[in-house]
Amino acid sequence: MKPTRRPANPCFSSGPCAKRPGWSPAVLSGALLGRSHRSAPGTARLVEVIERSRTLLQMPADYRLGIVAGSDTGAVELALWSLLGARGVDLLSWENFGEGWVEDVTRQLKPVDYRLLQAPYGKLPDLEAVDPERDTVFVWNGTTSGVRVPNGDWIATDRRGLTICDATSAAFAMRLPWDKLDVVTWSWQKALGGEAAHGMLALSPRAVERLESYTPPWPLPKLFRLTSKGKLIEGVFQGETINTPSMLCVEDWLFALDWAERIGGLEALIARADANAAALDRWVRRADWIEHLAADPAIRSNTSVCLQFADRSDVEANTARQKAIAKLLEAEDAAYDIGAYRDAPPGLRIWCGATVDTSDIEALGPWLDWAWEQSRP
Ligand SMILES: Cc1ncc(COP(=O)(O)O)c(C=O)c1O
Repeated sequence: MKPTRRPANPCFSSGPCAKRPGWSPAVLSGALLGRSHRSAPGTARLVEVIERSRTLLQMPADYRLGIVAGSDTGAVELALWSLLGARGVDLLSWENFGEGWVEDVTRQLKPVDYRLLQAPYGKLPDLEAVDPERDTVFVWNGTTSGVRVPNGDWIATDRRGLTICDATSAAFAMRLPWDKLDVVTWSWQKALGGEAAHGMLALSPRAVERLESYTPPWPLPKLFRLTSKGKLIEGVFQGETINTPSMLCVEDWLFALDWAERIGGLEALIARADANAAALDRWVRRADWIEHLAADPAIRSNTSVCLQFADRSDVEANTARQKAIAKLLEAEDAAYDIGAYRDAPPGLRIWCGATVDTSDIEALGPWLDWAWEQSRP
């Protein structure tokens, strides 16, 4: 039977993610458009973005936070290009985005002494094999496999290497152990449903020390340059972005922060993501045709929940069925963009971050069952 109740908001994409409940373009009406971002009111808004993001994420006072170009990718690449090469690096990857950073380091940043710690979709590599003498590059939450690290216990407090953490689908949804992380990046388009444009880069004092004491052997484009004459350019972390930001995106992000603060801050954001993931899990347990890609609940994401078909005997048929399900649900305005990532095992990926309402996850389940039946070849 076709369900009668649709999710009020069918946006379950894993990026750009659903806007905040109640969002409308009217929130952008006060944006500082046509003005220089270097004017006093322009800089004030950029400083506000930094200070309020820092407070919301409960960052240590001695960490720098800046707005950078190129969304999360820009922030991670800035860090890799600027910091790597001083010592060996352990590259962790267990899905597409971690694999992308492996490609960057091994193919673009030569010569770097690297070790690969990899695992297939659905699993984590051996975190205990990470060497604290070396740098470490990893994603906190693997958006395309729905596998996250369970905590930061595997990171040594007295490490000599730096930890570079792509936290774009973890920030604002999971607790990050700041003392274990030297570089943390995220974008605006993910967990708070901001507009895609800019990235944010957080640096520990040790990361700053590396920047000021080490010059990589490869050229650094202007967009990546955080030091001048061996000293950190502090302005980047005080609202003086390297290049021109979109003040429309800035305005949207300020409203995202408003919403997050209003509902109760980081704890409330994490609780909403947890409640969404739990509601989806209740449905998965009932559905016999689908299961979690991350079999172990301890490493299962509460944002990008990835599911695979229970019968995996015919990958081609499953890929076709995934596409058919996604198309049917889009046509019904019941769910948008829920197909598994193109390099992941066929199945579904459903964003459960804080901007999604739990009632919409609950309303989605019957539609998924309906689409499964309808897509029977
Ligand atoms: C873990 C991770 N890293 C990097 C990216 C790329 O982010 P962006 O497109 O915002 O640069 C994504 C986007 O989904 C992601 O989930």
